[in-house]
Amino acid sequence: MTEAATRFLVSFAQALSTMALYPDGHPAREGVVDTAYGNLAALQRLSRQVSLSFLGDEVLLGDRPIRELRGWDWSGRLSAAGVQRLQFESEVARDEFEGFLSEVLARLTLSAIQQAPGASQGGVGPIRFGAVGIRELDEEPEIETATIALTLKEESDTIDWLHEEMFHGAELPLAEAEAVVRSLALAMHGDRAMVVPLLKLRRYDEYTTTHSLNVCVLAMALAEWVGLGARDVRAFGVSGLLHDVGKTRIPPEILNKAGRLTQPERELMNHHPVEGARIIIQSEENLDLAAVVAYEHHIMVNGGGYPLLGYPRECHHASKMVHVCDVYDALRTNRPYRAAWPARKVLDYIGERSGTEFDTEVARSFVKMMQEWEPRVAALEAGEAVVAPSGTPPGAPAPAAEAPGPGAASRTPPSPPSEG
Ligand SMILES: [Fe+2]
Ligand SMILES: [Fe+2]
Repeated sequence: MTEAATRFLVSFAQALSTMALYPDGHPAREGVVDTAYGNLAALQRLSRQVSLSFLGDEVLLGDRPIRELRGWDWSGRLSAAGVQRLQFESEVARDEFEGFLSEVLARLTLSAIQQAPGASQGGVGPIRFGAVGIRELDEEPEIETATIALTLKEESDTIDWLHEEMFHGAELPLAEAEAVVRSLALAMHGDRAMVVPLLKLRRYDEYTTTHSLNVCVLAMALAEWVGLGARDVRAFGVSGLLHDVGKTRIPPEILNKAGRLTQPERELMNHHPVEGARIIIQSEENLDLAAVVAYEHHIMVNGGGYPLLGYPRECHHASKMVHVCDVYDALRTNRPYRAAWPARKVLDYIGERSGTEFDTEVARSFVKMMQEWEPRVAALEAGEAVVAPSGTPPGAPAPAAEAPGPGAASRTPPSPPSEG
């Protein structure tokens, strides 16, 4: 039994380190997940219920220390990330196991999520993990609460750094981008209840970072809303995060210009989808969905927008979804040339342009999702810990749903956005 547990834990650690390096679907990643999953199945053939604890230097199987793993460095690493106990309660499915690995990896990779007491438990299917004392916290809370405190500072800093790297012509640091997506996915499900954490813009030059993170969160929320699985949700998240990566090659004085763009500046700006797709493809050939989305996210269903397609064709579903999320976040944000629109006005706008700019089905899903999840929207400033709203009655205004300033909306002409 201890031998099987050791074999499982060593392959579990191997899977975590490999997953940090390779994207979803990569053969190297699939291979290590399969191995760890196989070793877990072998362990569970000996005992269906398995409980492992990581207490500093010591690893316990049930209440007995595993001698072979004394001083194992992963024990300290896991317990420092809040994974002090791991329980497998019954048979685990392969995708549940992979989902669980992703959650643990997110905890290990980014320490951005400062969890409120009682919110440090995680779980996927029959797997439970978290701090010691997990059993008392196992019962479902009666009222759905979202008590996770978020800062998103590290995610925001990571994306700032990523954009800086891209500005200097570096290759796309994919592992960091994926770690941010995993961390955001985890933040959205921190305490069982769904939270949609959206960042507020503080300075205009932070727009691309704030906007990328918000579109990532919205794309994942929408993907989840329409019923996609965890892996697809993350792929949509990566696509949302990178949709404007082409803007990192645009000089900041044009990107953040307060006045109207001149014709040559506009042309340069409108080149960002093509540039983004090129950056992504050159950096990582497996990121084809993100490259397609970067290319297509400004194309309207009636063929308008940019880049101009040589022949009319339908865009990828992911592009249509990111397009709606993109416009929503752009209009909800204060820009140098116009104030942010209130949430309701943006949703009306999306509804009005459904069938011309936006795909009808996608627009309907998005509007419905935002109406229903409005109480779950947490408006944050990067670095400022905000406890996500909980128990808000449906229809009550959430922080992000408020108008940006007195009279701001009424002064705004309802012109179609050219940014995003
Ligand atoms: Fe955008
Ligand atoms: Fe864009």
